[in-house]
Amino acid sequence: MGSEVKLSVLFTRDEIAATVNKLAAEIRQDYLSKNPILIAVLKGSFMFLSDLIRQLDFPLEVEFAQLSSYERGTESSGKIRVVQDVQSNIKGRHVLVIEDIIDTGFTAAFFLDHLRRKNPASLKLCALTDKPSRTQVKVNIDYLGLTIPDKFIVGYGLDWDERFRHLPDIYVVEDKG
Ligand code: IMP
Ligand code: MG
Repeated sequence: MGSEVKLSVLFTRDEIAATVNKLAAEIRQDYLSKNPILIAVLKGSFMFLSDLIRQLDFPLEVEFAQLSSYERGTESSGKIRVVQDVQSNIKGRHVLVIEDIIDTGFTAAFFLDHLRRKNPASLKLCALTDKPSRTQVKVNIDYLGLTIPDKFIVGYGLDWDERFRHLPDIYVVEDKG
């Protein structure tokens, strides 16, 4: 177990850092005086969030939520549930959702819908990566980092069965052993 999984680098830590800087500059322009609430979707977004907010030099708040899809292996089933909801009141606030990856779109579409019912002043989505070839539900990504091929990726917060989240670069799983 473990050692036989083959990974190849897709994006280096430098490419990721440049992407995070670019996104931070866009977000700064739009949220400078809005005191937004950034909601990171656990677990995959934790590393992206922590790098992103250190590039944002204006007032903001941070929240976390955890969602779960009823999974079939690495395939999303499309049925999502909220495992841990946002703790603070987002009514009338400017909300920016921080996602690690948009795959089929089911998770983001569900969560945006869930948050919209709480009546935020505005609601936008920032995603580090998107797999457009896999889209089943169209979600508008207001701030997009990297477009990726139809491959399973790990590292920089993203896992394969809870493994590899800690890797500082993003890898494609070439061979699941
Ligand atoms: P969705 O298909 O857009 O609903 O994405 C569901 C979830 O599947 C994401 O939040 C990730 O946790 C996970 N996921 C999808 N593609 C990948 C991948 O390539 N690597 C790691 N996790 C992934
Ligand atoms: Mg995830």
